[in-house]
Amino acid sequence: MGTTVFRKKKIAPSILSADFSKLGTEVDAVAAAGAEWIHVDVMDGHFVENITIGAPVVKSLRRSNPKAFLDVHLMIEKPEKYLDDFIQAGSDLITIHVESSQYVEECLRKIRGAGLKAGITLRPRTSVDALEPYWDQVDLILVMTVEPGFGGQSFMEDQIPKIQFLRQRIDEQHPSVLLEVDGGVNDKTIAFCRDVDVVVAGSYIFKNDYKKAISLLKQEH
Ligand code: DX5
Ligand code: ZN
Repeated sequence: MGTTVFRKKKIAPSILSADFSKLGTEVDAVAAAGAEWIHVDVMDGHFVENITIGAPVVKSLRRSNPKAFLDVHLMIEKPEKYLDDFIQAGSDLITIHVESSQYVEECLRKIRGAGLKAGITLRPRTSVDALEPYWDQVDLILVMTVEPGFGGQSFMEDQIPKIQFLRQRIDEQHPSVLLEVDGGVNDKTIAFCRDVDVVVAGSYIFKNDYKKAISLLKQEH
């Protein structure tokens, strides 16, 4: 019988499901409800079908919520073209997709060089082997449990082995790297996120009572 360790998770509400007409207030509200990070989904209509927000919104959020930890998830082609903007806007952590650039290493170096944390992520169908060259250059690995592009999709349970593999690899060889999961997390699928450090949830939090939803995600499952 194995022992299950309760891992204290950080919760990162994805503002994609927030009310954009009052974003600053929404960020304050989820922070007051117990969220440690704020997840910002940036989409360009090329790397993914959808278009969302850009660096000016990050800049405004930084100004209105100076203490928020802004976890910026770039779902854009050629992130190298926009990194300066997102760095100067006040991001705390920038995650790029391994599939999105020919210059992944340069991007990660630039993010860290600016004093931010650097994250890497991959589409559900991309093998973890793609991350191999970058282990020493990242502070966080994000596992996508939906196809990037939209909020409100269902959690892909076929990504659970990937989460488990990465957890083991991190524990054995890179204990300072954080493991984050993004997509389809709710009161049921949180059970699959026992071993992660940061949980992103958009629709589940913003469609419910923020405090109740966040507390439930933090509980032992
Ligand atoms: C998907 C985004 C996710 C998503 C999370 O492309 O990266 O952050 O919006 O939203 P839910 O929790 O609704 O799946
Ligand atoms: Zn995201």
